[in-house]
Amino acid sequence: MTTSTILITGGAGFIGSHVVRLFVTKYPQYKIVNLDALTYAGNLENLKDIEAAPNYQFEKGDITDEAAMQQLFARYAFDGVIHLAAESHVDRSISDPLQFVKTNVLGTANLLNVARKAWANAFSGKRFYHVSTDEVYGSLGEEGFFTEETAYDPRSPYSASKAASDHFVMAYYHTYHFPVVMSNCSNNYGSHHFPEKLIPLMINNILHKKTLPVYGKGENVRDWLWVEDHAKAIDLIYHTGKEGEKYNVGGFNEWKNIDLVHLLCSIMDKKLGRNEGESASLISYVTDRPGHDLRYAIDATKLTRELGWKPSLQFEEGLEKTVDWYLNNKDWVEHVTSGDYKKYYQAQYEQKS
Ligand code: NAD
Ligand code: TYD
Repeated sequence: MTTSTILITGGAGFIGSHVVRLFVTKYPQYKIVNLDALTYAGNLENLKDIEAAPNYQFEKGDITDEAAMQQLFARYAFDGVIHLAAESHVDRSISDPLQFVKTNVLGTANLLNVARKAWANAFSGKRFYHVSTDEVYGSLGEEGFFTEETAYDPRSPYSASKAASDHFVMAYYHTYHFPVVMSNCSNNYGSHHFPEKLIPLMINNILHKKTLPVYGKGENVRDWLWVEDHAKAIDLIYHTGKEGEKYNVGGFNEWKNIDLVHLLCSIMDKKLGRNEGESASLISYVTDRPGHDLRYAIDATKLTRELGWKPSLQFEEGLEKTVDWYLNNKDWVEHVTSGDYKKYYQAQYEQKS
């Protein structure tokens, strides 16, 4: 018996696919609808293992399309939304900022509005969970952490678009008493991560003995969290987070980019039977990203204190697991780098419809 019908947006992407898998397997009594536009970042191969589950349904659609979202909400009586669909890569936001405004700002505002109207201002038992990033807080110096009270100070078109979407979410809470909850998470890593982001890009380049492009001096610091720990935090916050509140999620795990790249090189030298230092010789310092934020570090004590969440994996262990996944799934990487993954949707879905 279905006890709850949940819309997950962006479920074919990196984090979304982990959230969909967790919800579909942990809650057989829920109906999980995955809505995704299948942009370059959306890959249904990420969900092959659960796509036949009776409580899972994929819907192709664009969050910026008002009529399509209205039809979706009319077709399913959603009890909740977990909203992850977004443009997510800072470098792409620098070359194409308006796409980020469209998807992240307009798309989120559209989804909020369609949900508000579909739920006819009767919000009891409903929940709209917006998944955001720590990048909205801007850039830290050597000291300090982002808390939930840190003022927003976005500095890239990506983080500005996410900050704007966060403001719309909170505006809906204050204006309409719309039942929102929100989280801001640090950098994720793990399986199914598109190889344009630092960790999967470096793994792929080390494997193929290609140059490892480190921006600037490699001194920038990121706080890395195992993607499955983020998915578990989302589960916890969706079910037990307080309405109208936001929660920071982070790994308590800061790394300078250059140290992280060296660690990856040394893990992979061992796994690939190379001499120690062989992969590190591929490192090349390249022109810095414009406006490159120096340091992100999350204070996640509110989430730990109030909801009892803690990251489960040590970074070295998580990184090894991630490298193993990429080495055991070379087909996946080949498909996403060659564009073949688009054919999976055509074979699975278009020929059936
Ligand atoms: P991703 O780029 O891997 O996936 C995004 C997904 O959204 C893709 O499947 C894509 O097809 C889909 N999408 C894009 N535009 C769409 C549209 N208009 N309509 C419907 N679907 C659309 O992103 P990710 O890394 O999995 O991030 C997911 C969410 O988590 C984002 O909101 C991001 O801001 C946030 N976040 C990411 C990180 C991180 O480290 N990756 C950290 C904190 C927060
Ligand atoms: P990225 O994975 O793009 O995440 P974000 O910019 O959202 O934190 O980049 C992580 C860090 O790695 C960031 O400081 C930029 C840096 N970086 C490189 O040095 N080289 C690269 O090729 C990439 C993609 C990122």
